[in-house]
Amino acid sequence: MKFLHFANGDQLPALGLGTWKSKPGEVYDAIIEAVKIGYRHIDCAAIYFNEVEIGKAFNYLFTEGIVKREELWITSKLWNNAHLKKDVEPALEKTLADLQLDYLDLYLMHWPIAHKPDAVALKKADDLLSLEEAPLTETWEAMIHLKNEGLTRHIGVSNFGKSQIKELMQAGLETPAMNQIELHPYLQQINLVEFCQKNNIHLTAYSPLGSRDRSAGMKKADEPNMMENTDIMEIATNRGVKPAQVLLAWSVNRGTAVIPKSVNPKRLKQNLKAADIELTADEMEQIRNLDKYYRYVDGTFWEMEGGPYTAKWLWSE
Ligand code: A2P
Repeated sequence: MKFLHFANGDQLPALGLGTWKSKPGEVYDAIIEAVKIGYRHIDCAAIYFNEVEIGKAFNYLFTEGIVKREELWITSKLWNNAHLKKDVEPALEKTLADLQLDYLDLYLMHWPIAHKPDAVALKKADDLLSLEEAPLTETWEAMIHLKNEGLTRHIGVSNFGKSQIKELMQAGLETPAMNQIELHPYLQQINLVEFCQKNNIHLTAYSPLGSRDRSAGMKKADEPNMMENTDIMEIATNRGVKPAQVLLAWSVNRGTAVIPKSVNPKRLKQNLKAADIELTADEMEQIRNLDKYYRYVDGTFWEMEGGPYTAKWLWSE
């Protein structure tokens, strides 16, 4: 397993388990199976509505002595309705209580988008707060406070572009340690990756397999399937591995972390093994040419008529 290194000596296992879309009834077994076969990095979020079940699995793993808390890297994320300064710490306290933990390894602002506190789900423009009402810098100051209090060892962001990251940096605030974004061969985001790496911001690749289990409302009818891409299939066949493993190996070989979601024991194992596949320079180059600037999670769901956010703003550099 490769690791991403942090200034304080902490190390993040490059391949972790994603839990977005893992149903409460399935995620408990998936976490236990994953840790038993060697996963040491688990990616969670309050909005996945499964942290209570994940917490039960952690409790089982720790009390049975299968793994120690300090051997796991656990990430979670602040939901958009808790961006106001007063709401940030209570949101983390809730996540810690649900996960049955004393601290997180990494806490991320899930999106640079703010909802009103009572609007968990977004239904209309009036559910949103503008960035004047809930400035990113103020939420970030509250995140820094959580780190200083020891409730999380590291803080970072998710779905942030260059401009949103620069806003935090230009305010003279601590640089995020992580940006978790959609990354895969069809969305390589070379400029943003380079910008983050230059500024010592690690990256985590979400939707590395194209998140084909997204709800129908989030999917397009004609979306491409990376696992059926002829170049990906060719590399997989030549190596005797699965296309999904090539997609994951690409992320790890690129120096980012990657968090494939699975609740299936066979695929959990397959995905973990992918972290040890060393792709050749030629294979990396072959995949480099597949970029389609294609987003599976396109952010248009934040666009409300009369609302303050657009996908164009979100993804602009
Ligand atoms: P399952 O949970 O049944 O294994 P992403 O990580 O991009 O969000 O993709 C998750 C989707 O990919 C889920 O539908 C998951 O199904 C499926 N998946 C996970 N691992 C593999 C794999 N090795 N091969 C094929 N599909 C996979």
